[in-house]
Amino acid sequence: MERLQKILAQAGVASRRKCEEMILAGKVEVNGELVTTLGTKVDPDKDTITVSGRPIKGEKKIYVMFNKPKGVITSASDNKGRKVVTDYLKGIDERVYPVGRLDYDTEGLLILTNDGEFANLLTHPKHHVPKTYHATVKGIPHGSALDKLKGGINLEDGMTAPAELEYKDIDEVNKEAVISITIHEGRNRQVRRMFEAISHPVLRLKRISFGDISLQNLKRGSYRHLTKDEINHLQQIAMSGLLKSKTPRKDT
Ligand code: URA
Repeated sequence: MERLQKILAQAGVASRRKCEEMILAGKVEVNGELVTTLGTKVDPDKDTITVSGRPIKGEKKIYVMFNKPKGVITSASDNKGRKVVTDYLKGIDERVYPVGRLDYDTEGLLILTNDGEFANLLTHPKHHVPKTYHATVKGIPHGSALDKLKGGINLEDGMTAPAELEYKDIDEVNKEAVISITIHEGRNRQVRRMFEAISHPVLRLKRISFGDISLQNLKRGSYRHLTKDEINHLQQIAMSGLLKSKTPRKDT
């Protein structure tokens, strides 16, 4: 027997806190009976649970990695009719949600799942899951400028945590550089703001890895299911709040 809000969150309905609000708001029924008491114990294998009349029991857990193209919204729908990530997930019938978000103009690795607990675990700021980006920036930053970002830089929402940075490519002709940056937080437009703070605005941004999971040769606009090992690995890394620095695997 498990607490109702935990079962709802695990089924990908919403975060546990939101599920509690749904229970209190009278949206949840167990075996046809309205339940508004938090902490009610249910048996997910036997009880029929509905949210606003829709059954949630037995939903298959889906975990996918998607190579998001630029110009796509990290959302399940968009009221302005722009392309959204779920437009690319042909063949997946379950409702999946992005784990964290990438800006409209950012491309690269995005994980989507219907497992709300897993998503919360990976995006919780306390869990420090490392995320690596390749940022093409305007101008060629000096080592001292990169050192500022490595140590932490003051943005309008406070100091950033230490980050790992290295040069990937320097284009002397066009005066651009590609820098690999690994951050352990997930603030809004964080990488772009960090480079803006050292006066090297980002021209192109691509996330190449999340934890130890990397895009490798996944084509832009394509997705694949994560393996059991990859799912377990991400869970472990988030649980242990691993801060170790890592070298992403070879990427396209
Ligand atoms: N940092 C950014 O600036 N943008 C993203 O999309 C992700 C990280």
